[in-house]
Amino acid sequence: MPGQIQHPGYEEEKLLRVSKLLPCRDVQAGRLLALMGEPEQYSYPSIFIYGHRATGKSHVLHTLLNELELPYATVSCVECLSLGLLFQKIILSLFGSDCVPLLPRSPSLSDFVRVYKQLCVQSTAKQTKYIVLDRADLLRDMEANILPAFLRLQELVEDNVTVVLLSEIVWEKFRPNTGCFEPLLLHFPDYSKDELQQIMCEDSHPSYTSELYSAFINILLGVFYSVCRDLRELRHLAALNFFKFIEPLEKDEVKESDIHRLWRNIEPHLKKAMQTVYLREVSSVQWEQQQMAEKEAGALRGLSAHAHVELPYYSKFLLIAAYLASYNPARTDKRFFVKHHGKIKKNNFLKKHEKTSNHLLGPKPFPLDRLLAVFYSVVDSRVAPTASVFSQISSLVTLQLLSQLGHDDQLDAPKYKCAVSLDFIQAISRTVSFDIVKYLYDFL
Ligand SMILES: Nc1ncnc2c1ncn2[C@@H]1O[C@H](COP(=O)(O)OP(=O)(O)OP(=O)(O)O)[C@@H](O)[C@H]1O
Ligand SMILES: [Mg+2]
Repeated sequence: MPGQIQHPGYEEEKLLRVSKLLPCRDVQAGRLLALMGEPEQYSYPSIFIYGHRATGKSHVLHTLLNELELPYATVSCVECLSLGLLFQKIILSLFGSDCVPLLPRSPSLSDFVRVYKQLCVQSTAKQTKYIVLDRADLLRDMEANILPAFLRLQELVEDNVTVVLLSEIVWEKFRPNTGCFEPLLLHFPDYSKDELQQIMCEDSHPSYTSELYSAFINILLGVFYSVCRDLRELRHLAALNFFKFIEPLEKDEVKESDIHRLWRNIEPHLKKAMQTVYLREVSSVQWEQQQMAEKEAGALRGLSAHAHVELPYYSKFLLIAAYLASYNPARTDKRFFVKHHGKIKKNNFLKKHEKTSNHLLGPKPFPLDRLLAVFYSVVDSRVAPTASVFSQISSLVTLQLLSQLGHDDQLDAPKYKCAVSLDFIQAISRTVSFDIVKYLYDFL
């Protein structure tokens, strides 16, 4: 049977169970097992396992150790604030809590080696013991002798012990420049899309068919695989969105076979979730609540895709000014922005034939000085023209909220166009308590 891990030293039945628990990792598990050898045999002193996050390093190793009932100690170097704690945890896991007091207070490496040796002589166990050091990259920050010592611990304590280092970083970044014992290297490659699909489908929900769940995972990966390949993160997203996916089924609106309708229902929801992958600015619970609140509030408040754009105070006014300059005819500026503009006849002001909506025609370009003029009138001349205003304009261009027209060589007279929608600018205006509709010629 392909994909089945084999080793003469272990029962067929146990290995079969291990294979089942490790989909898509039989190659790595098989290699690791080959390196570990039979329980009584001396194994290689140190093994270095590396690969990106959530590629199953810990999972494969611990499944093997647990299922094959091998003695081991796992310590995450993140948790060990001091070296003493690291040694204590190893002694505790390998020899039991009674032995921990043998270590002196804040033990050194030589204390650890001495106590370990002493305990070994007392015990008669012949099996290989394993010491798993997770986040091994942190060993590099400890005293310089620690990493080299762990790599050849077998020799130092004269026991059948193998140290396994787990790391996201390659071995080349570990090797001290003074040289040291070289561990065996084992790489865990990233999961491919198909592999992720296969692994994630194993989680299927008891009340739904596995075909439905598999279709769901397929949709989920279709959306997220391009931005996120982290199995943990994807699983979290699957758990978070599955109930949304089956909502129409629960309400009997859609049949289970109608995947297309289900897809249409879930897709916008997933796209929104995409904004928070990795950033996770909010917890899952908060996110769910936000989604509920948004639904209740009805229409989106106009910020939609730009919801996360937080602009500086004056940039908001600059954008408002740009919007006004783009959609109001230039000759009406006087009417809106000059306090005592004298009498402008309403008839003159509102030329009937011109009353096709400027909003239908789209934004018009305007020169920089007009933008500044409008800007100073809307902010009530509270700011002096400074370099910061100009740099904020270029930031708005970078953010694609404004677009700059003309060529790079026309330095003297750049023209701009405002590139945001009415909904968006209204939302921005609201945040600075500016009633933009009052200043728009189209809405007079
Ligand atoms: N082949 C697999 N089959 C089933 N579950 C898996 C598989 N690979 C990984 N997982 C699960 O994915 C999660 C992450 O895997 P694991 O903790 O082994 O990653 P890791 O490589 O140790 O990552 P890190 O470097 O972050 O520690 C775990 O919950 C694990 O159970
Ligand atoms: Mg791990």
